[in-house]
Amino acid sequence: MSKIKPSKGAPYARILGVGGYRPTRVVPNEVILEKIDSSDEWIRSRSGISTRHWAGDEETVAMMSIEASGKAIADAGIAAEQIGAVVVSTVSHFAQTPAIATEIADKLGTQKAAAFDISAGCAGFGYGLTLAKGMIVEGSAEYVLVIGVERLSDLTDLEDRATAFLFGDGAGAVVVGPAQEPAIGPTVWGSEGDKAGTIKQTVPWDKYRVGDVEHLPLDSEGNVKFPAITQEGQAVFRWAVFEMAKVAQQALDAAGITPDDLDVFIPHQANERIIDSMVKTLKLPEHVTVARDVRTTGNTSAASIPLAMERLLATGEAKSGDTALVIGFGAGLVYAATVVTLP
Ligand SMILES: CC(C)(COP(=O)(O)OP(=O)(O)OC[C@H]1O[C@@H](n2cnc3c(N)ncnc32)[C@H](O)[C@@H]1OP(=O)(O)O)[C@@H](O)C(=O)NCCC(=O)NCCS
Repeated sequence: MSKIKPSKGAPYARILGVGGYRPTRVVPNEVILEKIDSSDEWIRSRSGISTRHWAGDEETVAMMSIEASGKAIADAGIAAEQIGAVVVSTVSHFAQTPAIATEIADKLGTQKAAAFDISAGCAGFGYGLTLAKGMIVEGSAEYVLVIGVERLSDLTDLEDRATAFLFGDGAGAVVVGPAQEPAIGPTVWGSEGDKAGTIKQTVPWDKYRVGDVEHLPLDSEGNVKFPAITQEGQAVFRWAVFEMAKVAQQALDAAGITPDDLDVFIPHQANERIIDSMVKTLKLPEHVTVARDVRTTGNTSAASIPLAMERLLATGEAKSGDTALVIGFGAGLVYAATVVTLP
């Protein structure tokens, strides 16, 4: 017989508030064309992207996270002191240690909230949401702040025509808290490490140690290049189109609903053609609002789903209480899909 008391959590969890931060600098395709042989028409038709935001010096990972979180906390109607845990999903915080989450938790004014970073690429938001739900139901936190934040412009090789136009910067945050009825469905998630090489950093950090310089990539002027995200575009595209629609369907099944029951679809904003293909495969009815934030935000990895969610609510295209399917997928390869009630 165990002597340990069971922990007491809430019966269910829900997203209570959402907030986003987009850097002030808007970058049109014309700027991308300064470094690659392409065209505005090609970029728009192949990816759907016409503009993206790039962060300035002041718009750090911490600063963007704090701005987005402040809005999410206000939207949730709680105080920062009530937050018990801060989960930050990012691949563009450039200190190996400590996690950026602790600085964010402190600057927001939480009372020593548990704080940590996770690395789950473009599925990071779904991974963070799943952890948050677990903490609330298990009882280790009453409110959890989940942040997806990226400065992918720091990790973009502007001379690589396969990726230069894809990425953007920004932060999205949600507050997750207790609920009396289910508002975050079962997560369908996983990884396919056999495809780890299809989206990756060009050169690992340790190669930048003095002595390894001759093995580093150089730009067109002979300068050592900073690491960048590189990908096998077609392989990733095919995987996203064929495999992720199945995962999305599994998340609907797990939540016990059909596409007819959905109000909103918020897939990871990677490429509008992937979004179109998933809408078709899932046979989403006309009444379902589909997030297309990628057009003006680009791919912001972990930030893309909460940023798109915030925009749909802000423009009135979606409303509080709507039922939304969210799915993230990317580097790892990893994925996570679930059905949520919008805050
Ligand atoms: C990157 C992506 C838009 C490229 O589109 P694509 O249709 O697969 O393009 P391909 O790489 O097959 O190239 C097709 C042609 O366009 C050319 N091309 C490639 N990049 C180009 C560019 N930026 N501008 C103009 N032409 C380009 C290629 O040279 C090729 O020409 P060819 O047919 O004469 O050989 C697409 O693969 C994609 O979106 N992949 C998934 C990306 C993604 O979502 N990643 C993140 C997941 S989290």
